[in-house]
Amino acid sequence: MLKVLRKPVICGLALALLLPAGMNSVSAANEPVSALEVKPMDERYKNSFTIGAAVEPYQLEGKDAEVLKRHYNSIVAENVMKPINIHPEEGKFNFTEADKIVKFAKENNMDLRGHNLVWHSQVPDWFFLDEEGKPMVNETDPKQREKNKKLLLKRLETHIKTIVKRYKNDVDSWDVVNEVVDDSGELRQSPWYQITGTDYIKVAFETARKYAGKDAKLYINDYNTEIEPKRTAIYNLVKDLLAQGVPIDGIGHQSHIQVGWPSIQEIEKTINMFAGLGLDNQITELDVSLYGWPPTPAYPSYDLIPQSEFERQAAYYDQLFALYEKLGDKISNVTFWGIADNHTWLNDRAEQYNNGVGKDAPFVFDANYNVKPAYWAIMD
Ligand code: GLA
Repeated sequence: MLKVLRKPVICGLALALLLPAGMNSVSAANEPVSALEVKPMDERYKNSFTIGAAVEPYQLEGKDAEVLKRHYNSIVAENVMKPINIHPEEGKFNFTEADKIVKFAKENNMDLRGHNLVWHSQVPDWFFLDEEGKPMVNETDPKQREKNKKLLLKRLETHIKTIVKRYKNDVDSWDVVNEVVDDSGELRQSPWYQITGTDYIKVAFETARKYAGKDAKLYINDYNTEIEPKRTAIYNLVKDLLAQGVPIDGIGHQSHIQVGWPSIQEIEKTINMFAGLGLDNQITELDVSLYGWPPTPAYPSYDLIPQSEFERQAAYYDQLFALYEKLGDKISNVTFWGIADNHTWLNDRAEQYNNGVGKDAPFVFDANYNVKPAYWAIMD
């Protein structure tokens, strides 16, 4: 079992204040401290933003649920609201799993993020097949291309209308489009783009606006929003869309980042840049990888992550949340892409590409729901 729970020495006073009565900081310094025994993160940041976690429906009970209720006041479906899950066949919607998450949010008075309406990944192929079942992207006849474009935009409209109407009174913020710009700063050559140009982005936002609750906010969401040339490309795209009257309320910064990267200065510049367009900022998928990708150095097993790595991670988390708090009037939500280190997509990727080597630990709670140095750092 991984024991990573020595808090940084500098946080002694903070620890004494955070611990429940009866537990002294000497024992806590040497023993694991449960996430269920310490002060809630959402309360700590209540004057600045809500604190969210991405969840799978199976995490809505047991220890996961307890930790969720204690520390988070916002949730988002990690997968079950994505097009491939919620709309696997044309006209056949599968709301069962998504409904569980919506119900949990309501019962526990949590905000709900809707993720995501349009993406190039985890989207079923049927969207992009013409009436004869041929891939629309291969079509060369201009007339047929025009027909295909209309059909795809119609499908998109139906998709968004059906989902957004269903959750009209539940979802506070929608990731309307996800990852529409690529790493080189070009519009991503997804089937959406190849078939409709940028019209799919406009139709997506317009349709979402039409059917979403009046207070629901609409986001364009992406990773590496802090990195050039992608940052400026997204900025220019949004600026242009806003000038055309496209109803975008904010930008979602996925923030799949790693210890020390990006720099705090670049993150600050990014938030301010987008706020300058009159947009809200949300941190939508935060995880702070110990390694980056591919894992460097690649530790032979999860058990061997040295304590110094967790201290390094805590120092970065400390600076990150100090920045988020400083910019609190420009950031309305900070969502972690998971609850605790026992469940993170970063480990799937290690399994898939690296024989399980380089398992990560990106959150502030460890795999046993005990607090890590990063927790103390952000609660300070
Ligand atoms: C992107 C998506 C998320 C999630 C992560 C990693 O960031 O927006 O929904 O799939 O990739 O899995």
